[in-house]
Amino acid sequence: MRIDVITIFPEYLAPLGVSLLGKARERGVLDVHIHDLRAWTADVHRTVDDTPYGGGPGMVMKPEPWWSALTAVTEAGPDTVQPTLVLPTPSGRRFTQRDAQRLAGLPWLIFACGRYEGLDARVPERARARIPVEELSIGDYVLAGGEAATLVIVEAVTRLLPGVLGNADSVTDDSFAVGAMSGLLEGPVYTKPADWDGLVVPAVLQSGNHPAIARWRRDQALRRTAANRPDLIAGLDPADLDGRDREVLAELEERDREVLAEMEEWDRETPAETDRDPNPPPSPSTSP
Ligand code: ADE
Repeated sequence: MRIDVITIFPEYLAPLGVSLLGKARERGVLDVHIHDLRAWTADVHRTVDDTPYGGGPGMVMKPEPWWSALTAVTEAGPDTVQPTLVLPTPSGRRFTQRDAQRLAGLPWLIFACGRYEGLDARVPERARARIPVEELSIGDYVLAGGEAATLVIVEAVTRLLPGVLGNADSVTDDSFAVGAMSGLLEGPVYTKPADWDGLVVPAVLQSGNHPAIARWRRDQALRRTAANRPDLIAGLDPADLDGRDREVLAELEERDREVLAEMEEWDRETPAETDRDPNPPPSPSTSP
């Protein structure tokens, strides 16, 4: 896979040379090129931003350097394959594991890292007439620029490429992996020692009984997902759930109902704030 990144902070992308990605680059699985947007500015100040039309705070990235950069980077790449332009932006569609899987199947990604209030909207609009453009957000928060989001997306995508991870199977159990664990968070994992200061690894994981282990892992995934991401449980396709899945989910619902009932009882037994005396007499233990 070829990856081009255009940024005003090329040094920010240094992590792309480290760890699994660095090794994948050395082995030729990944061909990464980082470009300084300012190389395509035409003035002495190497200006990349200007004030927004319509007023408002912040600055907007000028279209000309971006268009020159995108044109040059596209022309310098292979002419046998088409690039996909990825624009990390908090206003984009939410990036998910499904996107990671889809992007991992593409031959060439160009990342355009915006800063300030983002790129002039005519850049993606014009690019869309030539190549696929994906505006992606990595979450509901605002970063200072697209560089950190690019690192996140590149790592999520490239670890799925054949030959990047040491163990290809380890991606199939991932949280959000497409397949048996689709829509579920991965449960807890353990390694040796089996007994660590009295904290013991669940017996089933030491049993060698693989069907029982698979079932236990799925139970744990359902429990963790219900606790941390109830929205994902609500989105599960009932056709993907077997009898035991339904049993686990019913147990969790029952526990929720019990907790709710306890809270309601506590509410009934505890006087409301407004029923309490606003000026209670000082208690002997706290008075000076
Ligand atoms: N740039 C700034 N915030 C971002 C976000 N949440 N996702 C992607 N790119 C961004």
